Amino acid sequence: PNEPPVVFHLFPIIGSTITYGMDPPRFFVENRNKFGNVFTFVLLGKKTTVFVGPDGNEFILNAKQKDVNAEEIYGVLTTPVFGKDVVYDCPNSKLMEQKRLIKATLTTEAFRQYVPIIEAECYSYFKKNPDFKPDAGVVDIAKKMAQLTIFTASHCLQGKIVRDQFDESLADLYHDLDMGFTPINFMLPWAPLPQNRRRDQARETVAKIYRDTMAARRRSDEKDAQDIMHHLMYATYKNGQPVPEHEIAHIMIALLMAGQHSSSATSTWIMLRLASRPDIVEELYQEQLRVVGAPDTAFAYEHLARLTLHANVIKETLRQHAPIHSIMRKVKQPMHIPGTKFTVPPSHTLMAAPGVSGNDAEFFPEPSEWDPHRWEPESPLAPRLPIKTGDDEEKVDYGYGLISKGASSPYLPFGAGRHRCIGEQFAYLQLQVITACMVRLFKIRTVDGSTRKVPGTDYSSLFSKALEPAEIYWEKREK
Ligand code: HEM
Repeated sequence: PNEPPVVFHLFPIIGSTITYGMDPPRFFVENRNKFGNVFTFVLLGKKTTVFVGPDGNEFILNAKQKDVNAEEIYGVLTTPVFGKDVVYDCPNSKLMEQKRLIKATLTTEAFRQYVPIIEAECYSYFKKNPDFKPDAGVVDIAKKMAQLTIFTASHCLQGKIVRDQFDESLADLYHDLDMGFTPINFMLPWAPLPQNRRRDQARETVAKIYRDTMAARRRSDEKDAQDIMHHLMYATYKNGQPVPEHEIAHIMIALLMAGQHSSSATSTWIMLRLASRPDIVEELYQEQLRVVGAPDTAFAYEHLARLTLHANVIKETLRQHAPIHSIMRKVKQPMHIPGTKFTVPPSHTLMAAPGVSGNDAEFFPEPSEWDPHRWEPESPLAPRLPIKTGDDEEKVDYGYGLISKGASSPYLPFGAGRHRCIGEQFAYLQLQVITACMVRLFKIRTVDGSTRKVPGTDYSSLFSKALEPAEIYWEKREK
């Protein structure tokens, strides 16, 4: 009876799909200004209730399992790409166990190995890539970051044997898998499109490559291996069952896809932001000299915590360019919204958009100003939020380890609650090392020399990517 106000639209099925799809953050803010934090719009024929602000983040991301469900929304898209029996193609309790097993492999010991792996990948990439042969030039940085992300992630998380196949067959196969993640697959998941046939073939071929790799790895002795594939090969579910090989293969696909788009979109934005602020690039270079030493000193895991400006560049870039702009859940039971007269009925989808509070002047002074220094406590632009410091926070366990209980933070680029990201530490490590290597090797700026300007955002994929061409000018420090 008391449903939230509905955004005006002319056509019943299309509803607000177009205005939302063109620029989701703008759509959220315009309607929040009109209706307040809660409103409903029609997305591809489905009533979708948005609840923005910290209360909305809490309401949706920490909702009870009996009230909301993720797999019924995401499953149509992800199951044909990842394969069966993992992530959203299994009961939530199984996903929680899978997340726990994966998280358990991402240890400090593993991270210590990953840093030199990523550093070596970066150096070899920039040395071998013909576009970086001259002393200076202009490059589409989105394409380069996409490659560098997949090389580094596959090497760390799936091992060297898998990584080496990305120079050949695996890159094209993952491209075909990617084509399963287009908006058309949300609209017409059953459509017999040629890209869907290629997606299905690619999934089977990739899964077979992983199964063959595991067979070969079981025959060889790899005591020091710290990649996720290796650990899952010897892991067991709570009931004592080993993880079946087809599930490991599908988890490998899922993790690479989850990390690929979010991390490569983020590293691209980092490079574009840095190109627009050569002064910050120089500060980063000085920070490296101070913390790490001369430019021929190898980066080590222990340096990362002390490269605070590097970390703050990532933090600030994720505030303004969080790759995931909309988080969705299917409503299972009528849900009353506390402090309002509204009840969201089970026919609706709930949509959280933590990026809205992340760019709200109420919490972040001058929100459109990209300033990594705002994360230093004494900065005039420091966030106006109760900053919690790990230990004093109440923790909760959804089955994959203790995480902060509160989801009512205005800054949640990695989500919260049961579906929260488990890749945050790895993503930070990967982004910090890639950024550090770029800064060490190159001076960068925008192509026209302007400052504080970046390209617009392309929302046509499901992630917030930089509009192409995402070009920057680079110049080698050592010629
Ligand atoms: C979940 C963001 C990197 C694996 C999530 C969610 C967000 C997110 C917002 C919550 C989705 C929801 O509630 O529906 C990011 C960002 C990344 C990143 C911004 C990088 C900058 C990674 C990486 C991995 C990964 C590198 C793998 C190593 C996962 C997994 C989930 C998840 C397994 C859980 C999905 C679920 O429980 O439903 N991520 N992620 N992510 N992410 Fe990430």
